[in-house]
Amino acid sequence: MKTIFSGIQPSGTLTLGNYLGAIRQFVELQKEHDCYFCIVDEHAITVPQDRLKLRQNIRSLAALYLAAGINPDKSTLFIQSEVPAHTQMGWMLQSISYIGELERMTQFKDKSAGKEAVSSSLLTYPPLMAADILLYKTDIVPVGDDQKQHLELTRNLAQRFNNRFNDIFTVPEVSIPKVGARIMSLQEPTSKMSKSDENEKAFISMLDDPKRIEKKIKSAVTDSEGVVKFDKENKPGVSNLMTIYSSCTGMSLEEIETAYEGKGYGDFKQDVANAVVDLLKPIQDRYNELIDSEELDEVLNKGAEKASLVANKMVAKAKKAMGLGRVKKKKK
Ligand code: TYM
Repeated sequence: MKTIFSGIQPSGTLTLGNYLGAIRQFVELQKEHDCYFCIVDEHAITVPQDRLKLRQNIRSLAALYLAAGINPDKSTLFIQSEVPAHTQMGWMLQSISYIGELERMTQFKDKSAGKEAVSSSLLTYPPLMAADILLYKTDIVPVGDDQKQHLELTRNLAQRFNNRFNDIFTVPEVSIPKVGARIMSLQEPTSKMSKSDENEKAFISMLDDPKRIEKKIKSAVTDSEGVVKFDKENKPGVSNLMTIYSSCTGMSLEEIETAYEGKGYGDFKQDVANAVVDLLKPIQDRYNELIDSEELDEVLNKGAEKASLVANKMVAKAKKAMGLGRVKKKKK
């Protein structure tokens, strides 16, 4: 049995990309492993947030995790800011991170580009993410493709700490799904689908109703060729829809190409929309039962308690390794 950790930011309603790239793997992994899944609200405040919306998004994300199949009897589900060990460990790891390596993170470059007021926490976001992971002796981190670079840094920080102080951290491996690791925007299929996209037509929210899903998929950008063929470079829009269809139905890309030979995009888009609706409908029904339930609070309370027990032990070890705290006199 391995230890698994992953996190999602409550920076908007989850998208189909988050589901196919991340949560779906989580549900499978919990069957065999010891899993920690986190709502990383402290990461979300590295960019400005509306406080009321943020609080709602945190609850909503917790309900979506459960609705999508995270089983609280098997996995530990918790909110990052309810376990103070994360920021404590984050600070220690910031102290062994170099500004240069943090400035090289592509996500930092993208999020800070052209902005005048960039928070310092946007730069120190990756050591906090490393803290999340390293606190739990994590073996495997299931994420989408865009988190690869942060994971590489996490591994470097773990090794650096182990070499410089004491060998206390497990160096984690990353796990990226074969299909669905990078679902693209429906409007700009060369950039990834993102929950913080200003254009709502660009992403499918996990809570979009069937009509909206159909509308968004029907207005997804394709090309004028009218051929359903996988070619990421020349047909990014069609290829993205094929990836979504394949992830939802389990059909291979070749099977999809054969099934739509000689047919236009109309039929194909309708089928993609139906497949997405079929996938999300049961999750949405369960979400509606959970969102205002006390059960949800119980799960999160229990999760924070359990996570704190494990995380506090690792903080104590790291403090000792770095020389923090005082020498205690032994009682005579
Ligand atoms: P976040 O909140 O942006 O995304 C959560 C997860 O969803 C995946 N993902 C996607 N997968 C496929 N296609 C997409 N279009 C797509 N968009 C997002 C992400 O790769 C991720 O797995 N830094 C992280 C949160 C985090 C974390 C952690 C993750 C904080 N601490 C510790 C793992 C371990 C983030 O911003 O994810």
